[in-house]
Amino acid sequence: MTVLVTGGAGYIGSHTVRALRQAGRAVVVLDTLELGHRAAVLDAPLVVGDVADATLVARLCGEYGVTQAVHFAAYKSVGESMQHPAKYWANNVGSAAVLFETLARHGVHEVVFSSSCSVYGTPPSVPVTEDAPIHPESVYAETKAVAERVLAWFERTDGLRSVSLRYFNAAGASADAVIGEDWAFSINLVPVVMKAALGRSGPLKVFGDDYPTPDGTCIRDYIHVDDLAAAHLAALDHLAAGGATTAVNVGTGTGSSVMDIIHATERISGRQVPYEVVARRDGDPVASFADPEHAAQVLGWRATRTLDDIIASAWAWHSTHPDGYGAG
Ligand code: WQD
Repeated sequence: MTVLVTGGAGYIGSHTVRALRQAGRAVVVLDTLELGHRAAVLDAPLVVGDVADATLVARLCGEYGVTQAVHFAAYKSVGESMQHPAKYWANNVGSAAVLFETLARHGVHEVVFSSSCSVYGTPPSVPVTEDAPIHPESVYAETKAVAERVLAWFERTDGLRSVSLRYFNAAGASADAVIGEDWAFSINLVPVVMKAALGRSGPLKVFGDDYPTPDGTCIRDYIHVDDLAAAHLAALDHLAAGGATTAVNVGTGTGSSVMDIIHATERISGRQVPYEVVARRDGDPVASFADPEHAAQVLGWRATRTLDDIIASAWAWHSTHPDGYGAG
């Protein structure tokens, strides 16, 4: 009855591992530690290795009695994927296909997959529903869309059922500030705002304030990482109950602007966030936020944490861990 969590030493992976353990589920983590941290894996065995190592994965399935898997392990930088596409195709699609086949042929037929709202590209309308056109605008986003299709084919060839969770903007940290995001690898807004507020960087660069939004800055659906973790447990339960393969948008359904994030950070931290407005960033949609109804209906899951919960937890984590997990 063990859950194999690949990439469980990473940001969302480590929060999901902790939530699984707190729910009493047995877990084994497989991670190369290329981007993850050993210190982020709490109360679960960590095996250092690659998901494409079919011999290792098969051994883990047998030794630990694996019955379900959550696949996080992937590269996730939009910008890097456009500079070095081959490593993204190899890891996010090629290695994933080897993992899925190994799992299916060693008794694991239920997989939750870490997908992304970026498969939609610039959504034609908001809130974004799961039947919105799949229109990736980066190699990274395309690898997520392709991996979803690979999973669908593994249902036809090997009876593997899956839930692809299309994350919106994951942010925040554990309420006790024990685990959180490594800002060394992230250029996402919230950790970058925290770095500027803590004086660990120059002023935040706001990528445009001339968008057709109330304050001129882009709108996104920021979802607490622990709400995201809970969605993974709900997806595993859906599959364990015989639920059908599906894709689910995982967001709050509420949009917040860049200035909303800056103002919430200043209010909660008591610090000023130095920033400068610069040119728009190519590819940035004006607004993107989820329609959360499919998640509620199929998984019985909704986000519960607020934007203030996100910012307060991120502040508590980054202000007490300016060097993340350190060398670990
Ligand atoms: C958010 C907003 C920027 C940094 C990411 C991932 C995507 C998906 C969703 C997982 C935008 C603005 C940012 C900065 C800024 N997640 N911004 N200055 O682009 O919405 O997408 O989360 O798969 O794959 O890439 O997130 O945090 O980069 O940007 O003004 O220094 O903040 O313009 O409006 P994004 P982001």
